[in-house]
Amino acid sequence: MPSPRSTPTVTVNRARLEARIEELGRIGVHPEGGLDRGVYDDSWTEAMELVAGWLSGAGLKVRRDAVGNLFGRLEGYASDRVIMTGSHIDTVPQGGAYDGGLGVQAAVEAVVSIAEQLGPQPTALEVFVCAEEEGSRWPCDFWGARALVGSIGADEPHELLALDGSEITIADGMRRHGLDPELIPTAARDDIDVFVELHIEQGRVLEDAGQQIGIVHTINGKVHLEAVIEGRSDHAGGTPMGLRHDALAAGADIALRVEALAKRLGDPAVATVGSLVPRPGAINVIAHRCELTIDARHPDPVQLTALQDGIHSLLAEVAQDRSVEVSVVREARHEPQPMDAQVTSVLTEAAAARNGRPPLLMVSGAGHDSQIISQHVPTGMIFVPSVDGLSHTPHEYTRIEDSVAGVEVLVDALLSLARGRQ
Ligand code: HGY
Ligand code: MN
Ligand code: MN
Repeated sequence: MPSPRSTPTVTVNRARLEARIEELGRIGVHPEGGLDRGVYDDSWTEAMELVAGWLSGAGLKVRRDAVGNLFGRLEGYASDRVIMTGSHIDTVPQGGAYDGGLGVQAAVEAVVSIAEQLGPQPTALEVFVCAEEEGSRWPCDFWGARALVGSIGADEPHELLALDGSEITIADGMRRHGLDPELIPTAARDDIDVFVELHIEQGRVLEDAGQQIGIVHTINGKVHLEAVIEGRSDHAGGTPMGLRHDALAAGADIALRVEALAKRLGDPAVATVGSLVPRPGAINVIAHRCELTIDARHPDPVQLTALQDGIHSLLAEVAQDRSVEVSVVREARHEPQPMDAQVTSVLTEAAAARNGRPPLLMVSGAGHDSQIISQHVPTGMIFVPSVDGLSHTPHEYTRIEDSVAGVEVLVDALLSLARGRQ
């Protein structure tokens, strides 16, 4: 592949980028702070329409697929093959404006700037506004990217129930939005040569290293597990401590043992009980049931298995120690995912050429659309710093100068990749 130094320079429009980050960041504001943009909800629709307007306003060809992924295409003059860039537009509950959002903004700004200043390139360039990544409304993680690569199972749309307990399937959610779940297979693409995603780091590695740009070589592997503890309801005043089958106390015990397990394995192992819901949840009733979630991650598959096995062992131990039943009701594992070596080297060269210093090659702690797409298409990721490492919080923030630097690297890499495929 050619050096990015041989490509012409495109100037990124900092004022436009800054204004658009603010504009998109006003959609889905939660009254208690942060953004709630769950797939197929009203704020998601409004956000998608805003970005579609930016894309069509710049003369790009706009299209939506069967799950609502949005594309903006600058046709190639020599080939119909595609160099694609983008990220997700949905958020976690009360999430920030930059997780996914900055990758969407970067993709729009990069492709629009190239269209405005240089016009079509040898291959098509496409902005990908991914419909869903977070699994916030349904446990459907990576819905948009999985549709793109054709890996959504035929029964999934009818089986995935909303996390708010409403019994609404994601197929219902799609229909309410005017999308036909039976058409999901039509979203699969086989014309993409390369995918590049810019994302905020969501950790403090870049900040601690004093680096503006990171290039990801591996995305953490992840296990997601949902468990239900069945104990026995009883009177909080009348039941001696030795006679209880307290499902909430068992859940709390599991949370502490999960934390201890990850600490024992040591960095970079991480494990989190993010939700612990007791039933009936009353001050004077011992909980008969408790639902909990566990998220465990490691970049090494062997260590990820050690974490996963350790979790299963501790669930059994708590069941025994506390005379409750613990069952795993859902378990999903995503393997650690290496990025493509050639794409990574194009991104690394682009970053070094723009900034005069090599970027930091690093692991991504968080999961991304790229880990799904890279199983089918050569893929690479650009990271920009998160202030104080914060993410999945309303306080998530990335400085505009760092965002611009990231978009500049993205522009150069896209040009290099498009021209290298003539
Ligand atoms: O959970 C993750 O890593 C991602 O933000 N969905
Ligand atoms: Mn996220
Ligand atoms: Mn994200």
